[in-house]
Amino acid sequence: MPDALKLLTTRRSFKAVDLAGPGPSAAEIDSLLTVASRVPDHGKLTPWRFIVFEGEARRAAGAAIATAFKAKYPDAKPEQVAAEGERLMRAPLVIAVVSRAAPHVKIPEWEQVLSAGAAAMNLVLAAHALGYGASWITEWYAYDRGVLDALGLKPHERIAGFVHIGKPPGPPEDRPRPPLDEIATRFSA
Ligand SMILES: Cc1cc2nc3c(=O)[nH]c(=O)nc-3n(C[C@H](O)[C@H](O)[C@H](O)COP(=O)(O)O)c2cc1C
Repeated sequence: MPDALKLLTTRRSFKAVDLAGPGPSAAEIDSLLTVASRVPDHGKLTPWRFIVFEGEARRAAGAAIATAFKAKYPDAKPEQVAAEGERLMRAPLVIAVVSRAAPHVKIPEWEQVLSAGAAAMNLVLAAHALGYGASWITEWYAYDRGVLDALGLKPHERIAGFVHIGKPPGPPEDRPRPPLDEIATRFSA
């Protein structure tokens, strides 16, 4: 099987907490972002952007998550709030894929959102190709306005995913995949 197809058929997600350091180098992060930005994009609008979280910046973003959690659940125990602050510390590198989809005279917003999904998927695949594992997650804080403001998202921007990237613990166990005869049909007149 050609290498590229083997990569595509062996990719699988890891738990964020299982992704260890060392994370990708600066040059590898450039490769990840280059591949992530090479996606179909109707109208060439670039309807997505990326935010890279590394090192202590992950903790600073985590503080915003903890603050939002405390505001949502004022009765939360201190250890629960502290655990929320560690959300982005699970993997050495987290890249947020931000959708910038907006109304446009010609290009439907839906297509712009799909392009952000393609960017996130390319990012996950590029990580796999470089020998890293990835976890594309959103969790509650992707939808919390306080967190989005703290991360610098404009009102119309949305998180397509926080892609966690790091060294996987070993080959992943796969999960059952949908049988092709249940998801694909051949159109006949
Ligand atoms: C937009 C999006 C958001 C996701 N958010 C979460 C999440 O918050 N938590 C989670 O456990 N999985 C989430 N997932 C699912 C995982 O990324 C992954 O697909 C799942 O664990 C199955 O693993 P697989 O990629 O090996 O099929 C999300 C997937 C997508 C496409």
